[in-house]
This record gives sequence, structure tokens and C-alpha cells, in this order.
Amino acid sequence: MLAIVLKQDGYFGRAEGPVIADAGLYLEVAELPKPVPKAGQVVIKLLASSVNPSDLHFIKGAYGQPRVKGAPAGFEGCGEVVDVGAGAEALLGQRVAFVITPNGSGAWAEYAMTEALHCIPLRPEISEADGAAQIVNPLTAMVMVDIAAKTGAAMVISAASSQLGKLMIGLGKDLGLKTIALVRRADSVKALTALGATEVLDVTTPDFARQFAAASTALKPQVFLDAVADQISEQVFAAMPNGARWVCYGNLGAAPPTLTQIGQLIFMDKRIEGFWLTNWLRNTAPEVQKRVVAKVQSRFADGRWHTDVSARLTLAEVVGSLAAATAIKGGKVIITP
Ligand SMILES: NC(=O)c1ccc[n+]([C@@H]2O[C@H](COP(=O)([O-])OP(=O)(O)OC[C@H]3O[C@@H](n4cnc5c(N)ncnc54)[C@H](OP(=O)(O)O)[C@@H]3O)[C@@H](O)[C@H]2O)c1
Repeated sequence: MLAIVLKQDGYFGRAEGPVIADAGLYLEVAELPKPVPKAGQVVIKLLASSVNPSDLHFIKGAYGQPRVKGAPAGFEGCGEVVDVGAGAEALLGQRVAFVITPNGSGAWAEYAMTEALHCIPLRPEISEADGAAQIVNPLTAMVMVDIAAKTGAAMVISAASSQLGKLMIGLGKDLGLKTIALVRRADSVKALTALGATEVLDVTTPDFARQFAAASTALKPQVFLDAVADQISEQVFAAMPNGARWVCYGNLGAAPPTLTQIGQLIFMDKRIEGFWLTNWLRNTAPEVQKRVVAKVQSRFADGRWHTDVSARLTLAEVVGSLAAATAIKGGKVIITP
């Protein structure tokens, strides 16, 4: 099979954001044997896979699991189950969304392999692009907004024009939450306001600190869902009210923040924490996961959620064109065989 494989092993050891200048530094095209499933595993003939920031962190060696040289890249996609190990027979022939487990074989290939437990049979109304981005961001959006809804009436989200940011704004609006959405481009403001954000603030404007302080005083957000984790994030957290939680779930910033207000953790009951969907999947009861998955699919099926696509690449185009494709704003890069 044709596959896009990793050129390096292990970790690089330095977080520097998900931007890539040349995918050829990390990836190459290879012909590999089709993977063979063990008990509980399935092989999926790829229809489409998505490019998430986690993929870009990973191929650079800056993600929560080590690279394996020569193994296919790509964490998420959708396709048809064409081969199964013992115990996974029920999925044979089904169109599924999937995420790759470390003992599987990556999604940027004609065939991917993962655990049956990490596949979700797709409703027929779900498009290929939505199917390719059905798990990582939508489940994270569900869990993050649930944290916010249980904590207060308003939330702050950074990198709000990301796909995940847009999902969270729509869901927050449906749940009656007020959202202060932080962006770094003025041209994102109109679209996010239309999606339902209460305030959309551009962190690059000189007046941002004053604007945020005013919005925070008015809406009293208790949770900051943060994908950037840079010095602006730290200033935002410092300007939030007593009891605020800073939930870091992404590392888009090029450099980590310095904490300037340790006293707030002591005297104002503020908390800093992290979130990783992988741990949520490990630690959450299957029946709870099933309920969340069903809600995700119904939001995509009836159009309340959809995946914006910025570029489409075939597998053969990935090494040469991924860097330019990921620089296009506003949506996901989708990879097809
Ligand atoms: N912890 C978890 O389990 C988990 C799960 C899913 C996603 N995530 C994280 O969620 C975040 C969003 O993912 P996604 O797939 O929705 O992303 P995406 O659609 O690919 O969009 C990336 C967004 O990040 C913005 N951005 C990039 N670098 C930035 C920086 N230095 N400062 C501010 N904004 C920056 C971009 O803004 P422009 O449009 O202005 O370029 C863009 O809107 C990522 O950090 C991802 O790793 C985490």
C-alpha cells in the first residue's frame, strides 16, 4: 500500500508550535505491506483522513507519544473496515470514523489499522470530510464545553477560529453559555459572532487587555479553555475572576508562558490544569462515551456542526504540499487516497 511514513524516531524534545515549513523534513512516501489485524483490531480502507495540529506536533517529535521511524503518520480518519481480528467481526464492511492507537498503523495510508474500540460506525448522512474529523475535535468540544457548563454561565476560549473553537462556540450557544472568543486575526470576528460568540476579541490589538478586562467583569467567566498557552493566555487567566480554571488543552503558542501571579492560586482559588482526549477515552466508562458519540453524530447529521475544509491533498501530494496546505486559514486539510 502507499503510505506517508515518519523519517525519525522518538521525540525532538522542544515544543515550538505546530507550524511546518517543509513536510519533507519529517515525512516520506513509502510502499508498505497492508497491515494484518490481531485480535480486537480492524484494518480500514481509507476514504479520508484529517490533518490536526496533533499530527503536526507528532511528526515533529513534540507530542505525547514517541515517533516510530518508517511507520505511517496520521491519527484520525474514516473508511471501510475490510479486515478484522478475532472479536471485531461486527465491524466488517462498515463505514467508520477511527483514531489510531499506538499499536496500530497510521491514517495517512491506503489502509490504516486500529482497535475496534476506537472505531465509530458512521450514520449515512455524515459526509467523508465530517467523518474524517468526527472524533478528536468533536469529542474534545463536548467534554470541554461540559466542563464550562458545569462551572458557570460563561467561558473564554482561545484560538477560537480553529475547527474546535467553532464547534465549542456553536455548542456553547445551544447550551445558553456566553462565550468570550479570542482570535489573532480581525477577519475572524464576523464569522465567530455569527456562530454565536458573545464577544470576539482580537489579542493582537493594542487595547486587548482593557477589552478583555471589561468583558470579564461583565460576563464573569469561570473557565478558560486554552489551546495556545502563551504569555497572552497567562494575562487572560490573571484577569479572570476568583475561582477561575485555566484548562490547557493545546500548545499552539511558539513559547511557553511565565506565571506572574502565583498568589492568585493561593488567595483566589484559581487553578491551572490540562486536558488530553486520550486520557478521557482511557478513563471514561464506555456507556458515557457512547452517549457523547451519539450526540456528536446527531449534531453533524442535522448540520448544527460541520467541518470546514481548507484544502484537499491526495496521499501522493502530502510530502510536497502539506506545508502550503496547512498555511491556508479557516479549515482542515483533508487527505484522500
Ligand atoms: N488535548 C486534546 O485532547 C485536544 C484534542 C483536540 C484538539 N486539541 C487542540 O486544539 C487546538 C485546535 O485544534 P483544531 O484541530 O481545531 O485546529 P485547526 O482547526 O487546525 O486550527 C488551528 C487554529 O489555531 C490558531 N493558532 C495557531 N497558532 C496560534 C498561535 N500561536 N496563537 C493563537 N492562535 C493560533 C489558528 O489561527 P489562525 O486561523 O489565525 O491561523 C487556527 O485558528 C490544537 O491546539 C489542538 O492540538 C487538543
